[in-house]
Amino acid sequence: MLIGPFTQILPMSGLPLKGALQDEQLPVIPNGGIVVENDKILAVGDFKSLQQEYAGHELHWIDTPMVLMPGFIDCHTHICFDGSRSRDYAMRIAGKSYLEIARAGGGIWDSVTKTRVADTVTLAENTVARANRHLQEGVTTIEVKSGYGLNFESEVKMLRAIQQAGLHTKATLIPTCLAAHMKPRDFEGTEAEYLEVVLNELLPVLKQESLTNRVDIFIEETAFSSAAATSYLQKAAALGFAATVHADQFTAGGAEVAVAVNALSADHLEASTDKEIQLLAQSDTVAVVLPGASLGLGMHYAPARKLLNEGACVAIASDWNPGSAPMGDLLMQAAVMSAAEKLSSAEVFAALTFRAAPALQLTDVGKLSPGFVADMQAYPTADYRDILYFQGKLKPSCVWKKGEIVTN
Ligand code: NIG
Ligand code: FE
Repeated sequence: MLIGPFTQILPMSGLPLKGALQDEQLPVIPNGGIVVENDKILAVGDFKSLQQEYAGHELHWIDTPMVLMPGFIDCHTHICFDGSRSRDYAMRIAGKSYLEIARAGGGIWDSVTKTRVADTVTLAENTVARANRHLQEGVTTIEVKSGYGLNFESEVKMLRAIQQAGLHTKATLIPTCLAAHMKPRDFEGTEAEYLEVVLNELLPVLKQESLTNRVDIFIEETAFSSAAATSYLQKAAALGFAATVHADQFTAGGAEVAVAVNALSADHLEASTDKEIQLLAQSDTVAVVLPGASLGLGMHYAPARKLLNEGACVAIASDWNPGSAPMGDLLMQAAVMSAAEKLSSAEVFAALTFRAAPALQLTDVGKLSPGFVADMQAYPTADYRDILYFQGKLKPSCVWKKGEIVTN
């Protein structure tokens, strides 16, 4: 099927994986068309030329101004959870500290308590509802972490719920085990002993049931140390698990571990110093910034500008979770961050598409190129610059997942 004409197509192809990007580098196809066969892209280019070349093909005529680009990839979320943390949020904006909120029964442990008592069906339904909202907003691939179970039964339950959810949403869900979110309060033993239990008991079952092949760990003074995390990630790698890290959110150190173990990504980075920025820039580890967590916590953004200037591969993700990032609007968060950090449109769209793909080991999404999956979104405007200009309020009017229209 030939779809078009689009006023502009941003194929997001032919751009470098790492480093700063000027808008002048962004390929824009005016009056473009795209040929989709089954779930794949066959050709992208000038609409009139494609009309001649694919004369016999079915035509999906676009009769209003539209800008087409790849669907977004949200490579860091925690959308599988039950219960709200609005009480935490009210306390935080009223000026209460992290410790005061935790002492009042808030924080990650509050979501653990609520998620542990929820059944698999409820968790799957919650995940599907959030994934579908994302999909309507142009996010076609979504990573989803466990990490609110923090014991064998509840971590397995969460990952089964994510697997179930994947069967009931058209968005692609990529599961990650975050059993190392924090040492559970009801575990009697050291952090190293807890991680040994995860390695010896949980990960083999996750592997056996094909529930995930990815692990994440929160490296922070309040969570796990760099030393414990390094050993955990090395042992997990030996079991066949790829790594991602919650790094440098409040204190620096995690990104160094991520690079040392060759993790796919180091995420957060609000507290990264020049040292971590250099390490990331010289590595293949994707630097994932999470503006939604900065907005939710009322803290500064990660140094995305510096990371790009030094040559890192920077992706932007939502961190959608009940505590620090409840908004879950990826485009709005990216647009707001771009104004503060001075990121070009090219850098933002790259961070939401092909630069997020390697964080999930995906090689066929994030670009509108022949052979890629036809995950696409069209915005009702003639000028791609409107998309960030309206700071997230301009939403796609049409979203395609694997070549099929999924917008309501
Ligand atoms: O990515 N930093 C740690 N974990 C989450 C927060 C989860 C929560 O507060 O429930 C994050 O921000
Ligand atoms: Fe997170």
